Amino acid sequence: MELIVKDVVYPGKALCKDDSGKAVFVDEGIDGELIEAELIHRHKSYDEARLLRVIRPSSHRTNPRCLHYRICSGYQVIDYPYQVRLKLRQLAGILKGIYSQKIFSEPANTIFHYRNKAVFHIDWDENRFGYRDALGNTVDVESCALLRKEINEKFALVRRRMQEKGPMSLERIGFRVNRNGEVLLILYVKGDGELSGDDVSVFSDLGFAGVVRIKGLSVRPLVGRDWLEEEVSGRRFRYYGDGFFQVNTEMAERLVSLLRQETMRIDARVVLDLFCGVGLLGLSLSDMVRWVYGVEQAPICKKALDVNSEYNTFGNFSFKLGSAGSVAWEIFEDRRMRARIDTVIVDPPRKGLSRSVREFLRKNGKIRNLFYVSCDPMTLRRDLLELKEVYKIEKVYFLDFFPNTGHIETMTVMRRRKRR
Ligand SMILES: C[S@@+](CC[C@H](N)C(=O)[O-])C[C@H]1O[C@@H](n2cnc3c(N)ncnc32)[C@H](O)[C@@H]1O
Repeated sequence: MELIVKDVVYPGKALCKDDSGKAVFVDEGIDGELIEAELIHRHKSYDEARLLRVIRPSSHRTNPRCLHYRICSGYQVIDYPYQVRLKLRQLAGILKGIYSQKIFSEPANTIFHYRNKAVFHIDWDENRFGYRDALGNTVDVESCALLRKEINEKFALVRRRMQEKGPMSLERIGFRVNRNGEVLLILYVKGDGELSGDDVSVFSDLGFAGVVRIKGLSVRPLVGRDWLEEEVSGRRFRYYGDGFFQVNTEMAERLVSLLRQETMRIDARVVLDLFCGVGLLGLSLSDMVRWVYGVEQAPICKKALDVNSEYNTFGNFSFKLGSAGSVAWEIFEDRRMRARIDTVIVDPPRKGLSRSVREFLRKNGKIRNLFYVSCDPMTLRRDLLELKEVYKIEKVYFLDFFPNTGHIETMTVMRRRKRR
């Protein structure tokens, strides 16, 4: 069918209307374009279609760099300034009725080769090494324009060695790189398998800072180190294996600098960094406040938090391993702790805040300042709808951590409302 694209909606589908006025979501398209698409799924209130051909292209259309770009997102065909405009428009739409002031925009300087982490799936039967598509098939990827060049280079070497050696008990391989160009190789071993010494030796002379084996919850260094370090805004942070670390270091630096700038404007003394990862956000404030408490669920972050606390504080950081919801309530029940914390940072995974964390933030009247860093505007909307009763939303920043994809990262700055 021929369709006109009305809009690009989060997280990146082209919204069209068919002759009867029914919404059709197409995997790629820019508003204003006339396209040809084929129907793939019918639903009651909308249909899904796949782009076949662009009949009348938008002036914002560009050539994609990756062959496999549609697996990551259709955004590689949109020029960068327009991507930013689109994301700002989507964000304003999602936050409608919650926040109507200016959204502060922080576009990226580096829009290709920015990702410092990649995980490739392996299909030994088909001899494919790459990303998974929506149907769960492994699509062969030779290199990716979003990844740091060092990852592409090392991936080509590893791929060649794996092809020469033939099937081993590996289901995925991961790469992480820091700004010094050091690369960590992560071998994800199949649940019922194990790697032999021969298998490991295939990777040991390829110039990795370390080779790490991960099987279920067990993480073990096989060659060299099982960690990397990165400098962000003049501070050093260590992370282990596949433990969380921001994938766009340049934008992580921007986030830290905005967080510091906003903290300068308020009277923050004791900060609780829920979902603290390896401490990037909380520890970056340690010179500005009396104390920082971190809470993190993933055990792999523990060693890194010990080291990063040594690197970045003068003994004014402590953390607890556990779920944000339960640790928050332990804090609430401890009257002395509850009285101390005046500022909270939350940076949850995509699913946003649990009911228990939202409840803690609402009920704990001592919290005056709240920073909400989010990687999913839909769950942000849900959480803000509840939090805005208690906190005034002062500012929303859009930080483009993920250029050439549909993802949207934000930081919302909030202040507790005065009781009437
Ligand atoms: C988006 S990352 C943010 C990390 C950190 N703020 C940073 O900028 O590096 C979210 C972190 O929350 C952790 N996490 C996920 N669910 C959690 C939970 N229920 N309680 C505590 N931490 C959790 C993840 O392991 C991850 O480290």
